[in-house]
This record gives sequence, C-alpha cells and structure tokens, in this order.
Amino acid sequence: MRDASGNFSLLHRTCSLVVLLCFLHISVTFIYYVRNSDSRQTFVQNQQTPQVHRKLTEQRVTIEETRPPSLSNGTETERKLETCPDNPPQLVGPLRVEFSDPVTLDLVREQNPALQPGGRFKPKDCIAQQKVAMIIPFRNRDEHLKFWLYYMHPILQRQQLDYGVYVIIQDGDRAFNRAKLLNIGYAEALKEYDYQCFVFSDVDLIPMDDRNIYKCFNQPRHLSVSMDKFGFRLPYTQYFGGVSSLSKEQYLKINGFPNNYWGWGGEDDDIFNRFDRIAHTRQTMGRDGINSLSYKVVKVEKDQLFTKITVDVGKP
Ligand code: BGC
Repeated sequence: MRDASGNFSLLHRTCSLVVLLCFLHISVTFIYYVRNSDSRQTFVQNQQTPQVHRKLTEQRVTIEETRPPSLSNGTETERKLETCPDNPPQLVGPLRVEFSDPVTLDLVREQNPALQPGGRFKPKDCIAQQKVAMIIPFRNRDEHLKFWLYYMHPILQRQQLDYGVYVIIQDGDRAFNRAKLLNIGYAEALKEYDYQCFVFSDVDLIPMDDRNIYKCFNQPRHLSVSMDKFGFRLPYTQYFGGVSSLSKEQYLKINGFPNNYWGWGGEDDDIFNRFDRIAHTRQTMGRDGINSLSYKVVKVEKDQLFTKITVDVGKP
C-alpha cells in the first residue's frame, strides 16, 4: 500500500518550490526590464531629440562668447560657455538608415524644434568647435531631400556643430553643373555667416554612423568612406565624390571647384586632382574656380529646415 498523506506533502512541497521559482523568475525579469527600458529610452532620445547633455560640460575650457544677433534669443547677450568636446557625448554610433516609409517635412520640423530659420543650429550649452555650412547641389530630388533632412538634422545636432543647411538649386533644365553649384553654395553661405568649414554633400547620401563627424580636418576629407551602392567600398582609390569636407583655407588654396563640368561625372575627380599632381587640372585650376565664378540668384527661400537658393548657372 502507498501512504496518500506522504504523497500529498511531497506534492505540496513541490508546488511551493515551483511557485517560489516562478516568483524569482518574474522578479528577475522585472528588474531586467526596468533597467533596460531606461537605456532604451536614452537611445530613442539620442536618435530623435537632439538635446544637449548637461553632465558632460564639465571638462570643457571656459571662454567668452557673444552670440550673433541672428541666433540670439534677445534676452541673452553674453554667456560664459565652454568649447564642445572632441567626442560629442550624444553620439550613438551605428544608425539604422532606411528609406521605405515616407517622411514629411512637417514631421522633420516637429522633430527638430531647436532649428532656427534657414536650417541653422548651434549647441545651447557649449560653443561648437566649428561653424560648418552644409552645401547640397540640387534639382528635382525632393524625396531624397526629405530623407536627408530627416536623418541629418538630428545627427548634426548630436555632433554639436554650429551649422546651416544650404540647398543650391540649379534653375532651368540645362545640363546639371554639380561643381559650380558647390562653388555657389560656398559663396552664398559666406554672405550669411562666418563659416570656416564646408561640407559638400550629395542629397542622396546619409552616414550610417554618427561618429562620422561632418566637420573639417587638417586635410580635405572624403567623408563618404564607403557606400552601399558600391558594395560598401569605393570605386577607385582617388574617388572624391559623394560627401567631402574642406576648410575655407583648403578650399581657397585649390581655388574652389571647376565651373565647367556640365552633365554627369568628372568634376569630383577634378577636385581630387587639385590636391594631386595630375597635369590638366594643374594647368586650369588657377583660372577656373571660385575666382572666375559667375551666376545669378533667382530666388532665396528660408525654412526652418534649410535655406534654398535657386540660381541661374548659365549655359554649357
Ligand atoms: C566619374 C565620377 C563618378 C565616379 C563614380 C567616374 O567615372 O567621373 O564623377 O563619381 O565615376 O560613379
């Protein structure tokens, strides 16, 4: 015979153990969830809301700054601020970049409340290391532009740049002249603000890691270091197309870009060769560049997200 009460107490003990284990499991899961939801929130904030991280102002050098009137809030004339750090604290590293869901300009405006008219921004709690003009040569690529603005504004704000976005639109439907539009962007941006650095970007390129800072270095820099359309490589070693940055000094040293490349291709190779030894460019660059630039401004539009300048670049 078997003792039923003995069986019952074994069952009771087993059940209690199971309940205890369940309780432990739920507690551990809960603690893990709460801790992770904290860091998830931070990540989402970093992706979409470019607010300045206050804690990290501590190691910066204090200097005086007078904000230019165009960006001042009226009450503040002079503030003691520190220079932004070399490694901006809000950077998140690799980014998910996709173009499947359409975005609207209103959404981008809503997500970037800190922008000033003309797509201008400067960090609130520190002084940006560089004043950078983003120059985009453009015609009929509105969908691309929306994505560019959608991704780039939060990135550039996390990078703590003092920047403005200039979309330079070629008027009419003659052959496109990308390099001349870049020269015009340089000239027009400088009429507005004392930019020291120029990032020249195609409208359809977005960085996949925000540590790729859109600023200038002691040499001209090719920022689009690899591209999905080239299998995450570059087509050839001297390739300088896509996105590049040049300081004002570097740009002037090579007399800007050539004005005479009409239609697709070649102008980026010419720009690269202005730093290099190749004969033809060396012969022409002295007389073809920013020093020979001529164009007419047709229209200027200021939006919260950009300054659009439509220009007549002349004929081939
Ligand atoms: C053109 C460049 C272009 C590159 C990659 C070259 O043949 O001259 O302008 O960027 O191909 O597509």
